[in-house]
Amino acid sequence: MTELNPMELPDSFRDSLRMLERSRRERVAAVRRGESFPLLSLPDRQAWLEEFHPDYRYDQRRRLRIGPSKGEAVPLELAELLESWPRSSTLALLNDDAPQHDIETDVLVIGGGGAGAAAAITAAEAGAHVLIATKLRFGDSNTLMAEGGIQVADQECDSPILHFLDAMGGGHFTNDPELVERLVSDGPEVLRWLEEIGVLFDKYPTGRMMVRHGGGTSRKRLHSAGDVTGLEMMRVIRDQAENDPRISVMNFCAAVELLTDDNGRVSGAVLERLVKKDTVVVRAKAVIVATGGLGRLHLQDFPTSNHYGATADGLVMAYRAGLPLRDLKHSQYHPTGIAFPEQKLGLLITEKFRGLGAQLINRHGDEFVNSLEPRDVTTAAIIRECQEYENGVETPSGGQGIWLDIPMIDLLHGRGTIEREFPGRFTEFLSKGVDLRTMPLLAYPTLHYQNGGVTIHGDGMTDMPGLYAAGEVTGGVHGNNRLMGNALLEILVFGRRAGRSAAEFAKSHGASKGLGLSHLESFMRRLEELNVDRSRTAPVLLPSYGEVKPL
Ligand code: FUM
Repeated sequence: MTELNPMELPDSFRDSLRMLERSRRERVAAVRRGESFPLLSLPDRQAWLEEFHPDYRYDQRRRLRIGPSKGEAVPLELAELLESWPRSSTLALLNDDAPQHDIETDVLVIGGGGAGAAAAITAAEAGAHVLIATKLRFGDSNTLMAEGGIQVADQECDSPILHFLDAMGGGHFTNDPELVERLVSDGPEVLRWLEEIGVLFDKYPTGRMMVRHGGGTSRKRLHSAGDVTGLEMMRVIRDQAENDPRISVMNFCAAVELLTDDNGRVSGAVLERLVKKDTVVVRAKAVIVATGGLGRLHLQDFPTSNHYGATADGLVMAYRAGLPLRDLKHSQYHPTGIAFPEQKLGLLITEKFRGLGAQLINRHGDEFVNSLEPRDVTTAAIIRECQEYENGVETPSGGQGIWLDIPMIDLLHGRGTIEREFPGRFTEFLSKGVDLRTMPLLAYPTLHYQNGGVTIHGDGMTDMPGLYAAGEVTGGVHGNNRLMGNALLEILVFGRRAGRSAAEFAKSHGASKGLGLSHLESFMRRLEELNVDRSRTAPVLLPSYGEVKPL
């Protein structure tokens, strides 16, 4: 990446930056006086969402024509994937009357991110032998890339009930209240567990946890490790799993199909080893799907903050096996993806910057929205400002952006705050010639999170015996819109719950005899009837940049 010398920035940047710097002194003084940009009324929020949020572009979704959620509208890119043929490795097994297994385990965990690792640890603690199959390397995941923090109501002025209300409100009350209750109630215990196994959270010298505000929350309850919270958590959780002799890990090993017995119980999975390029059949007493989200489908051509492996594999497998999906009409577009420099397009600029006071500023140097509105509203506001009012800053390649006035943070909280609170992004940008203490960043919404997914019950079980799911692949916890920090909590709460219940199921039910693919029969008949091109196969496993997508 080229160095970003402010003197070499495009003219449009320089003029706009001058206006932003001119307004900064008054904006900082206003914050000091306790003034903030007014929050929108609920009707205004809804109106902005409907007019400007990408989820409300009805031409960008369609109804599913096959499967248990037939008739539900989902994004076009996902509909194509869900209505695809199995991969050739599965088709080869279909000709086999009784596929033989190559590996046997009590609990198979598909996915090596935070939810998968937490599930594996608790399943092993409950006495199960666990195999983690992960498409890339164990730990490589959206968890690892999470920056801002984890929400937990552990302060005197807070309570799980307030956390519950915030999460439900953020999700426009479309969340499953039973799941939200589990999420918020398990929070303090999960935080204790993380500390016990060695995760280093930010604390005051007294040892008290530092907490920050996230958008849409009524209390400060965001616990962070600088701006590398996910990396710190994954460091410890992965270590914990790798040191448990009951857990084995297969890296570069992608699950491509679930296997079932004659009673509809999930009994294993088909895996493809990406390096050896062969197929492995695993028989398991219980299977946990923890494959993460869909950011790399680049819905509506949005850039994404997501990990390279986020291609919705778990949704495809679970749907074909017969599980309904929920809340997939709504995806999360994080308000502040990087808009410039373009080599980093879409990568995350954490909401924690806004939690510490950085404001969103248009090209004239004006604030136009309270920076801590719920995420979907902030995203709609940025798109509105750029598209409706043409108040965005143009990037060299013709994109748009809004300033995130990061230097305000040191003015509000004292010199050294940016370096201390954001060691990840601060060091990264400084090494490229951008000093975040003096230079705001240009941001635009980026596809960040799959709000909905596989339907689960409180302990991570699904409606198919033997099948459990946890983390971003599931739906219900966040409803239509997740609040910051609830994803890191969700993966641990439901990963641990799924791990425990899968281990119990494995113990009480023993091994299933059958290992088949009969659940695919009617699905494939329907694909045939709909004339779906046989070259359209899923899961796709990796994004296909540069290729024309077959329609
Ligand atoms: O902005 C962030 O750091 C993102 C956090 C989250 O999605 O929970």
